[in-house]
Amino acid sequence: MITNRLASPHPALWDRMSWLVNALLCSAVALFSYRYLASFGPLPSSIVGNAHFFPWLLIHAGAAATALLIAPLQFLKGLRSRRPTVHRWIGRVYAVGCMVGGVSGLVLAAGVTAGPVAGLGFGLLAVAWLSTTGLAWRAAVVRDFSAHRAWIVRSFALTFAAVTLRVYLAVSESQLLPIDADAAYIAISFLCWVPNLVVAEIMLRRGTPRAGRPAS
Ligand code: HEM
Repeated sequence: MITNRLASPHPALWDRMSWLVNALLCSAVALFSYRYLASFGPLPSSIVGNAHFFPWLLIHAGAAATALLIAPLQFLKGLRSRRPTVHRWIGRVYAVGCMVGGVSGLVLAAGVTAGPVAGLGFGLLAVAWLSTTGLAWRAAVVRDFSAHRAWIVRSFALTFAAVTLRVYLAVSESQLLPIDADAAYIAISFLCWVPNLVVAEIMLRRGTPRAGRPAS
């Protein structure tokens, strides 16, 4: 999440607030996504029309939503330092969630009703998500924690695409902007993740501690 910590007179408070907002957004989107597993409420017809909807969307929603739900816990400094075993186990569940969510996301990308360009947007997101998470996992296994932190920040920026996607979809569906819904969906398949990755890269290059050291 983009924050201006340096301009804040209370950086620690700012870090805690941004972590909380981040965690609330992730939890809300993750819990809402579990409705696919419970077949609860009306489901978007464009998504139900995905050529690979069953069983891939159920696998995808379950795994990716679990990764999204637990990811903010990994940025808690107190949990990392006082409960390293819990941090490691949550990390394993997160990585498995990303891997299963990424592979199923790749299958779904080949079946989107919005066409090949949207499929390419989601497909590249899946490849980037699998790669960054795999590299973060490998770095943790070989105890290269500097590389682990950098790759996990990138991985989380991509996991957070689930949140930015829904924000952009809400704007597009509100018809506040004079943009055709189909064209907007194609653009969103890239917009939901490319800017996230750019922000993550800027934070890493600036050495912003917040990415790896938010609220304790
Ligand atoms: C970051 C990598 C991800 C990729 C590559 C990806 C890919 C996709 C694709 C291709 C679809 C089908 C879209 C369509 O048919 O038009 C989809 C739908 C969906 N994805 Fe993901 N996804 C990712 C992350 C996530 C995460 C982290 C969540 C967790 C909440 C999630 C939850 C869902 C849900 C619930 C749907 C159904 C669509 C909706 O209700 O709006 N995805 N995803």
